[in-house]
Amino acid sequence: MMSSVNKLIRDILHLDQDLDVEVRGWVRTARETKSAVFVELNDGSCLRNLQAVFDLGVWDRTRLAGLQTGASVRVRGRWVPSPAAEQPRELAATELEVYGTPDPTYPLQKKRHSFEFLRDWTHLRARTNTFGAIFRLRDLLAASIHRYFRGLGFVWVHTPIITTSDAEGAGQMFAVSAKLGEGQEFFGRPAHLSVSGQLNAEALALALGRVYTFGPTFRAENSNTARHLSEFWMVEPEAAFFELDDDMQLAQGLIQTLLRDALEGAPEDMEFFDRWIQNGLLEQLRRVRDADFAHLTYSQAIAALEKAVAGGQKFEYPVSWGMDLQSEHEKYLTEVYVGGPVIVTDYPRDIKAFYMKQNPDGKTVRAMDVLVPRLGEIIGGSQREDDLVKLEARMAELGMEGRDYEWYLDLRRFGTTPHAGFGLGFERLLQYVTGMANIRDVIPFFRAPGQAPC
Ligand code: 4AD
Ligand code: MG
Repeated sequence: MMSSVNKLIRDILHLDQDLDVEVRGWVRTARETKSAVFVELNDGSCLRNLQAVFDLGVWDRTRLAGLQTGASVRVRGRWVPSPAAEQPRELAATELEVYGTPDPTYPLQKKRHSFEFLRDWTHLRARTNTFGAIFRLRDLLAASIHRYFRGLGFVWVHTPIITTSDAEGAGQMFAVSAKLGEGQEFFGRPAHLSVSGQLNAEALALALGRVYTFGPTFRAENSNTARHLSEFWMVEPEAAFFELDDDMQLAQGLIQTLLRDALEGAPEDMEFFDRWIQNGLLEQLRRVRDADFAHLTYSQAIAALEKAVAGGQKFEYPVSWGMDLQSEHEKYLTEVYVGGPVIVTDYPRDIKAFYMKQNPDGKTVRAMDVLVPRLGEIIGGSQREDDLVKLEARMAELGMEGRDYEWYLDLRRFGTTPHAGFGLGFERLLQYVTGMANIRDVIPFFRAPGQAPC
């Protein structure tokens, strides 16, 4: 068997027949005994290595000097039954070509490295077991997201990365600027990197019915936490004629589908995370995959937190109606109070974005956040204000008048409908599914305040 492509190890590992094979990959380890040199090869296609054996009765040691950890090689040989217990077969090498050997400063030696150490080597860390598994899972889950939405009739749309509106009204935006000569601004007015594709997605939902975006978003929040990035990927479905209940069902269905696909589609990588990253992960994810999420209104959540405080529970931030839930509160609600994911609805309007549909009580909005154990908020969404008068009044209150949002108000002027949507942070999802503690470790090249390595 000959192959010009790299991804071969995954394909031959399970084959139980004598074959001629040729594998290209990187040496993970090389171990020498009296009679042979055993080389663990990995080509990135799966977690497991393929063992190649160089019989010292046939091979001269001097020809094997290039087989060092990190070397890139082509090995040809026979795929034969192995005497070792760990694998049924091994590659009895007959040919070796070394493309490149690492110089002695190669940082990824055989021992385990801390994730912190590897953040200084983002361009190499995908070669380790953990990061290889994470980045394969990113691919699997991205495909799964597209499958889920397409299956429900959602159309993938592409919303702009450069915008002139602040979709979340939070002012946490990176400026985009260039001069057209004589000091004239490129777009004629201030422009930014998008914090969310939602407003544009709404325009498309009110034409195509069901749409979703999946792309990078940017936030200039100066928060150096284990769950915030300055550049992250977001999935944002938006559907006309959806109300909050439909939105919550769509969100639960998405998370459960993604968990099912991860567990079924990447069993080896998932077992690796369970064993090395987060003990009990598989069991936890299976439970979440199979049961309905709990629901609480914000007011019920506050009441539960107040009761906990009365019972002796300590929080850094005092609990009172009207405050935004801090991550310690979200953790308490999911891990202690509910013991699983919980969807919190009907938040005070003053702590949520301008576009959310106002409830008749005049105090709360049709918002829904999905909170999960270990992480807190993984999804933020809402039904949108579809009443022109109410939306205009809210925007005026927040000082958001002006031509930048006239197009958004047009959507309420010309055939307004109930509609709703949400945003799932793709890296938060990956943290949840892999058990990784730091969000910088689930995206290949992270951006955070003061940090943008390669
Ligand atoms: O709650 P957020 O800010 O909601 C929106 O942007 C809405 N426009 C979504 C919508 O309704 N279409 O963000 C949505 C999700 C959060 O729940 C979180 O998972 C993720 O995006 N997120 C971040 N992920 C990584 N780093 C950050 N700085 C993030 N900020 C939000
Ligand atoms: Mg949010």
